[in-house]
Amino acid sequence: MSNIYYFLQLIWYQLTFKARPLPDDIRLEGQTAIVTGANVGLGFEAAKELASHELSRLILGVRDLAKGEAAKAEIVRVAPKCDIQVWQLDQESWASMVAFAERARTDLDRLDIILLNAGLKRLEYTRSPTSHEVHVQTNYLGTALLSLLLSEPLRQTAQKLGKPGRMTITTSSVGFIAPVRDITNPQEGNSIINWLDNPTSFVPGDSRYYLSKLLDMLWTRALASRLSASDIIVNTPNPGYCQSSFHRVDPNGDMFSKYLAFTTVEGGRHLTDAAVRHPDSHGAYLSEQRLRPFPNFIYSVEGVEVQQKLWDETITLFRQECPEANIEEFTRGE
Ligand SMILES: NC(=O)c1ccc[n+]([C@@H]2O[C@H](COP(=O)([O-])OP(=O)(O)OC[C@H]3O[C@@H](n4cnc5c(N)ncnc54)[C@H](OP(=O)(O)O)[C@@H]3O)[C@@H](O)[C@H]2O)c1
Repeated sequence: MSNIYYFLQLIWYQLTFKARPLPDDIRLEGQTAIVTGANVGLGFEAAKELASHELSRLILGVRDLAKGEAAKAEIVRVAPKCDIQVWQLDQESWASMVAFAERARTDLDRLDIILLNAGLKRLEYTRSPTSHEVHVQTNYLGTALLSLLLSEPLRQTAQKLGKPGRMTITTSSVGFIAPVRDITNPQEGNSIINWLDNPTSFVPGDSRYYLSKLLDMLWTRALASRLSASDIIVNTPNPGYCQSSFHRVDPNGDMFSKYLAFTTVEGGRHLTDAAVRHPDSHGAYLSEQRLRPFPNFIYSVEGVEVQQKLWDETITLFRQECPEANIEEFTRGE
């Protein structure tokens, strides 16, 4: 898609679409949900909306426990009966993610909804403590690892109750204008992840963030093809361009935010809509609260090859860099 066409479409969508809240008759009584990146922004609003529909237990996955407690204090006001717990989670630490998933496995007697939403944007090359480029680590690898590790408790609940669990991975329409040459033709030993980690592959600006959201789409499809929709429905929504601290690093963001951005409440509604409604959305992309096609690249021969290669590289990387995750359990027969 050309950038001009993309931005014209985006402006039209931002000016004309109004996200609907969850219908009043949706009751989440008895259910447990996990939301990552839940202390602020879209994750916070989505967590609050889920809690306000009589959700029984809500786990706020946050980097900073004090910020998580502040978010909890606000959510308690709209959902005083919900058991809200703040759990530490840092997607730049393998140990933190493994501990988080282990806690979910041992502490929760059921798990119904997972909203993997944490993410960031940086305009300059930044290396994460894991040694990966920070978008690759946080937006892609961290999300992918959690999706694997948390799928087991979700599946167990689904099989006990006889209805599928829900997993939603926040993406963005910017995946439509991501620079795909970096993943179709990686320059470093033909490895996509090695190439994206290499500072010479980084162009200052937001294109690496765009690419990380395309990787989330590819991962969602690869994961969905390995999960049964009767156990877990996994989908990936675009919340639109929203006012939030997300764009603080971007000097153009303020201007766009002022005139065109959705509020964080409206952004959060796109996420809750995907996480609770649309039983037909397994492996799907949603935008404007409905199923929409992925970028054309994803359906192309090259896109299908990249999806498989990315899956293979990612699983190999988890086996090597995070053996404590015991990824074998989730990838039998791969
Ligand atoms: N805002 C938009 O216009 C927009 C549009 C499309 C998609 N999205 C996506 O929506 C999601 C939420 O964005 P937002 O607008 O709500 O941004 P935000 O207000 O900046 O919130 C991002 C959340 O992610 C958390 N996070 C960042 N790095 C983390 C890490 N290493 N480990 C754990 N948590 C981490 C942040 O924690 P801290 O508070 O500790 O930093 C925060 O809770 C992101 O995935 C973003 O890509 C946003």
